[in-house]
Amino acid sequence: MRRGSIVQLVAIGIVCGGGAALVAILIPWLPDPASRQAGRIDFVFWFVTVICIAIFALVAAVIIYAVFKFRAQPGEDMDGPPIHGHTGLEIVWTAVPAALVTAISIVSAIVLAKNDHVPRASAAGKADPLKPLVVDVTAQQFAWSFQYPAFGKLTSATLKLPLRAPVELRITSLDVTHSFWVPEFGQKQDAVPGSVNKLIITPDRNGNYPVICTELCGLGHAVMRSRAEVMPEQQFLSWAKGQQKQLGGGGGASGQTVFTNNGCNSCHTFKPAGSTAKIGPDLDNLKQEAQRAGQPLEQFIRQSIVDPNAYIQPGYPKGIMPTTFSSLPKAQLDALVKYLAQGAK
Ligand code: CUA
Repeated sequence: MRRGSIVQLVAIGIVCGGGAALVAILIPWLPDPASRQAGRIDFVFWFVTVICIAIFALVAAVIIYAVFKFRAQPGEDMDGPPIHGHTGLEIVWTAVPAALVTAISIVSAIVLAKNDHVPRASAAGKADPLKPLVVDVTAQQFAWSFQYPAFGKLTSATLKLPLRAPVELRITSLDVTHSFWVPEFGQKQDAVPGSVNKLIITPDRNGNYPVICTELCGLGHAVMRSRAEVMPEQQFLSWAKGQQKQLGGGGGASGQTVFTNNGCNSCHTFKPAGSTAKIGPDLDNLKQEAQRAGQPLEQFIRQSIVDPNAYIQPGYPKGIMPTTFSSLPKAQLDALVKYLAQGAK
């Protein structure tokens, strides 16, 4: 092969590879990772992308060079010269891809194993609720709820997480299959009724990220969203303890906290809570609705929370409101009923 041909081949390869590299780098294909696991997944992505760009540049250079160099002249209708295969070349183009695919498998296997690893507090050390922080994630049509067993089963409608603490999410569903996804955390996990699927996340960037349901689960699938909020550890602990205090027995549960923690505000309009959602009935009209149902206000509210299908406001379909609120601790349920009754007056 002449030196001029090699220079031409290399030049075409650099142009093609450079173009592909620009497409890979300049377009934000993936969100900025906000967890260690997402960082590792990004590494695999870039590892594979670099290999792909190199192979693309090589193949594109040879094709483009051959198309111009060996083009048939006008009127030329002879066969090409009879050439037998090149054993050395064949060994190289089999061995190199085999080595690359093996390398990708090894890197992926290491990342998968690391991402599934849960750091445990040492047996000798005293139990640390943040090693790992266990969060029970419950999906239902069409809402997420997050419960913190280490903090007195504290429940929240948004996923609050401390920075840099390993988190073990135990994901399940009450009705159909949903799927938990925070793009910045880099992983998805199905929420399946009757089983608990684990997902390990170690958030490493403060911020607010969307929690998305990524499995078509019914009419409200598109609105089945929440937020994940990553904050410094101290801020998380003071939030968790403050919530525990507000929800704790002692007669002090705050109705408004129960209302927002259980996600009532993501479906209902209620002026005192500043919520304007329109999936369920407007709770500012509770008084008229209780009259229509022929019940005293507080009794009507309590029944509507623990047994939502007992009375359905005209114009709303049955079975949309989750039936799980019957398991709210009594102090929280009482506070919620009182809060709604007061706001409706
Ligand atoms: Cu739940 Cu889609």
